Amino acid sequence: MITAIFPAAGKGKRMGAPFNKVFAALSDKPILIHTLLSFSRCSAVDNFIVVAAPDEVEPVAKVLHSLPGIKPCKVVAGGTERQYSVYNGLRQVSPKTDIVLVHDAARPLISPNVINNVISEVVRSGAAVAAVPVTNTIKVIGDDNMVVNTPDRNTLWMMQTPQGFKKDLLVGAHEQARQDGYLGTDDASLVEHIGHPVRVVMGDYKNIKITSPDDLIYAEAILGKKAVSKVK
Ligand code: CTP
Ligand code: MG
Repeated sequence: MITAIFPAAGKGKRMGAPFNKVFAALSDKPILIHTLLSFSRCSAVDNFIVVAAPDEVEPVAKVLHSLPGIKPCKVVAGGTERQYSVYNGLRQVSPKTDIVLVHDAARPLISPNVINNVISEVVRSGAAVAAVPVTNTIKVIGDDNMVVNTPDRNTLWMMQTPQGFKKDLLVGAHEQARQDGYLGTDDASLVEHIGHPVRVVMGDYKNIKITSPDDLIYAEAILGKKAVSKVK
């Protein structure tokens, strides 16, 4: 069985709205609802765990339980860091689940294709993340804004979600991170921390994380699907 965990318990500080950005409207629906309906269209995924801020668990559960077309879904309370939110979600995963996908609630434009690619690679190798090659040059910056070095761009990929793992591997990685006081910005880094290989699969440049107001404008444009055309 495959369970998808959606961390949605952040504050959305960089969005600058007076509410959690996952509830912000994108076209006709809140971001969170887009994300859950996209995953609901993926037949390989069996059920969901949405991790909400403690004071948002009840209202979110109410809305989701009456949402047409959504997979079976639990709503649980998150923590102060994304990693702790995912951990709380992991503790609610059914014993019948053998693969867990973790997907940012703030990535509403995920396609079933990318989800399926991640799942196939998890089945093969145990740990797989969606990612895309960086398109800009990346530099390491030190004190006083001085450039330290320029890593070869061909080796750099931007991580996305979903990140998928055999359940026992991800649970073990989270437990070890807690013991070591290790805090990672994604789940793959916890699995790397325990020395297990992680495979990258091609994501999608459209699978952006909505972080700031500009991202919402971009996401609206993607949903509008305006094709490139020549000025007449
Ligand atoms: N998240 C979470 N629990 C936290 C922090 C983040 O579940 N304690 C979730 C967010 O809701 C989001 C995803 O993790 O869906 C990715 O995090 P990010 O984009 O950083 O969202 P926020 O932390 O909400 O935004 P910001 O960092 O700007 O405050
Ligand atoms: Mg954050």
